[in-house]
Formats: sequence, structure tokens, C-alpha cells
Amino acid sequence: MNKVSSYLAPSFIALGIISIFLMTTSTPSFAGEEITVYKSPACSCCKKWVDHLKKNGFKVKAYDVKDVTPIKQRSGVRPEQASCHTALIGDYVIEGHVPAKDIKRLLKEKPKIKGLTVPGMVVGSPGMEQGSRKDPYKVMTITESGSGKVYAEY
Ligand code: CU
Ligand code: CU
Repeated sequence: MNKVSSYLAPSFIALGIISIFLMTTSTPSFAGEEITVYKSPACSCCKKWVDHLKKNGFKVKAYDVKDVTPIKQRSGVRPEQASCHTALIGDYVIEGHVPAKDIKRLLKEKPKIKGLTVPGMVVGSPGMEQGSRKDPYKVMTITESGSGKVYAEY
């Protein structure tokens, strides 16, 4: 070993230890899946839903777009299934104020569906909080055939 490499060796070992440390500490119980959200800049409930996702460990890439409708159409969201924002995660589409809990379940169970939706804008759903008011709502599946099933009920 020459003089230079004997100086460098300890610092490489230190780097190795640091990177192992970083790898282990940056791995929470939930893997922090990346989700892309398309929303209108004027919509405050969309922003609140993004915050809800972040709070639940998602890595959110949010894009403000003038019109979310083309993205909905491309993703197979029918008009009656539509809400304000449209999000994409893996091969799934998430429409509207779907709770983070259901997205995590979707990623875990990987059903053969196109995605999930909470049609409309239900008061009390994540991002649609208005005091203590909680209207009942259903998370529905989005399927190829269009006939969604109830995925979760609140
Ligand atoms: Cu909304
Ligand atoms: Cu929204």
C-alpha cells in the first residue's frame, strides 16, 4: 500500500459506514411510494389531499394543470366517477379524495383493476374536512368495463 491509498482507505471505510447508516435510517415501515398528482392550481382541497398523502409517507409530485379532464379520460376515469384531482401511482389511477389507507391497501393487494375513486367531493373525506361534519362515502374501484365495486366505506 502506498502512502496515498493508506490515507484514503479509512475515509472509504467511513463513507461506507455512513451510506449504510443512511440506507437503514431512510427506510420507514412504508416505502414512500411516489405518486403523481394532477390538479387545478385554484383548488385548495386538492392541496389538502396532497398534504394528507405526504403525512402518510407518500412522495408526492404535484402538477398544476389548466384542465385535468384529458388526464382523467386517458386514465379511464368516466365522467360519473370523476372528482377534482387525478393521481397516478404505479399502474393505478387514483381519482379524488381517496384516503391514503386505501391506496396503501391497493399497492399491497395489487388487484386487477384500473384504480380507485371517490366520485364528487364528499365533505369529511381527506382534504375535504369541514369542522366535524363527515358525510358518508364510498371508495369505488375503476375497472376496464366501467362497473366499479365498493372498495371501502366511510
Ligand atoms: Cu377536491
Ligand atoms: Cu382535488
